[in-house]
Amino acid sequence: MAKVSPSLLSADFAALGKDIEMINRSETDYLHLDIMDGVFVPNISFGFPVIESIKDLCKKPLDVHLMIVEPGKFVSRFAKAGASIINVHYETCPHLHRTIQSIKNEGVKAAVTLNPHTPVCLLQDIVRDVDMVLLMSVNPGFGGQKFIEGCLDKVSELKELILRKNSQAEIEVDGGVNLETGKALVERGADVLVAGNYVFKSPDPVAAIAALKRLVSD
Ligand code: DX5
Ligand code: ZN
Repeated sequence: MAKVSPSLLSADFAALGKDIEMINRSETDYLHLDIMDGVFVPNISFGFPVIESIKDLCKKPLDVHLMIVEPGKFVSRFAKAGASIINVHYETCPHLHRTIQSIKNEGVKAAVTLNPHTPVCLLQDIVRDVDMVLLMSVNPGFGGQKFIEGCLDKVSELKELILRKNSQAEIEVDGGVNLETGKALVERGADVLVAGNYVFKSPDPVAAIAALKRLVSD
């Protein structure tokens, strides 16, 4: 079964408690939190006080996606705020190995994220060190964008790299995921589906999460 990581970016921020309560009674595997700094991406989202409040209410592990420059500066604070997984972008980390080790030293799972234009082959010397690779299937910054089809081949390529390097990393995909794109992703080997609009704009988010979890390859 696929894992599902609903992206809180598409939730109702005036009623977050209600949405977290929905997440708790759903089959959600991780709760995806998008942190944007207005520098690495052209948008600003939320930060530590919001994560800390969510941590007190949410029973699911927090999957924190850092779309910020110099993420290494804040690893310890995100860990203390309640992150279970910290995703840093390849494009923001000149010393990626060091940043990954600093995440692990906090007792948190470490993940590296690739923008749509960043090739999978760049991960060949780090893929054994990470718990997860997050492939962006939209340009990061906003929810509700159209899935970039070229991401499907990247999932296949990453799956092959993980097997060849004997890595344990999960493959997570983020952006434009719905039942149709989600199925194609699972068929290529994706393990974790991030979904914002598809879940939170659904009339029945709990059922939307369950439907994504049940996607299997033919
Ligand atoms: C985009 C974020 C995503 C976003 C996904 O920068 O990383 O997590 O919330 O939203 P949807 O599923 O609506 O494309
Ligand atoms: Zn994200």
